[in-house]
Amino acid sequence: MKGIILAGGYGTRLYPITKSISKNILPIYDKPTVYYTISILMLAGIKDMLIISTPYDILSYQRLLGDGSQLGIHFVYKIQKSPRGLADAFIVGEDFIGNDSVALILGDNIIYGEAFPSILCEAAGLKEGATIFGYYVDNPIAYGVVEFDKYGNAISLEEKPKIPKSNYAVPGLYFYDNKVIKIAKNVKPSARGEIEITEVNKAYLELGQLQVKILSDNILWIDTGTYDSLLDASSLIRSIQKEKSSCIGAVEQIAYEKGYINKKQLLDLAESMSKSGYGAYLKSIAERG
Ligand code: TTP
Repeated sequence: MKGIILAGGYGTRLYPITKSISKNILPIYDKPTVYYTISILMLAGIKDMLIISTPYDILSYQRLLGDGSQLGIHFVYKIQKSPRGLADAFIVGEDFIGNDSVALILGDNIIYGEAFPSILCEAAGLKEGATIFGYYVDNPIAYGVVEFDKYGNAISLEEKPKIPKSNYAVPGLYFYDNKVIKIAKNVKPSARGEIEITEVNKAYLELGQLQVKILSDNILWIDTGTYDSLLDASSLIRSIQKEKSSCIGAVEQIAYEKGYINKKQLLDLAESMSKSGYGAYLKSIAERG
């Protein structure tokens, strides 16, 4: 399975902050937002990733992340000329996906929980159809909303409904088989002019090939697109990290623990950031074992 990180967009809800910097480069406490996103795909066992961003921002991602070899993984980059909608990821990424299945994650979504890695591995094992998630929220109108029948089967999906049929929002992490490319190409722009991921999910629902897994409330989901959620995410990550004495979204640590890089490589990465607490943390991980 391949992975796409969608890290373009305008970020208008964060203006003026995002007038000259991409939203997903902004820090969540001690690391750029995109680290958390990459870590999720890594935890799903994905090593081939496409980062999609704007013509102005793509260089920042390349500077930050390089070709991924420092993590024993592979990053490639592609420009999205204008933010046509989330489903455009599969059109922009068509050559990258090739004949594979693909996971898409939105660059501003953070999902964390001790049970989450096993959920991710299961989703990444997908052979046919699609797997998405449902997460209980108080304000579902800002999201894609999924309705379930009494047996827990998904029966409808709506994008930003005025009167939501449930409180279950769909987080920005989706797993699809290869037909997603064809499905995305057939999606017509919505009233707001975007090709919506909800339309892709509805196509799978109509085929009877959509699995919606509920993420329980011991899993944390934050969409970091507003001032408050950005600040809340930083505070939460800071307090969880202090409490657990471990880092969330530390891609170098995950690479090391998955055996993609060795101790010396991790120490070298730590050394390149030795003046920061993050570098010191990576050093302590390498020295631990
Ligand atoms: P959004 O938060 O929906 O859009 P945005 O980042 O442009 O923000 P705002 O609503 O404040 O203007 O996008 C979610 C993520 O997906 C975000 O990381 C940007 C990215 N994105 C793209 O890369 N291309 C697109 O066409 C869209 C719609 C979003």
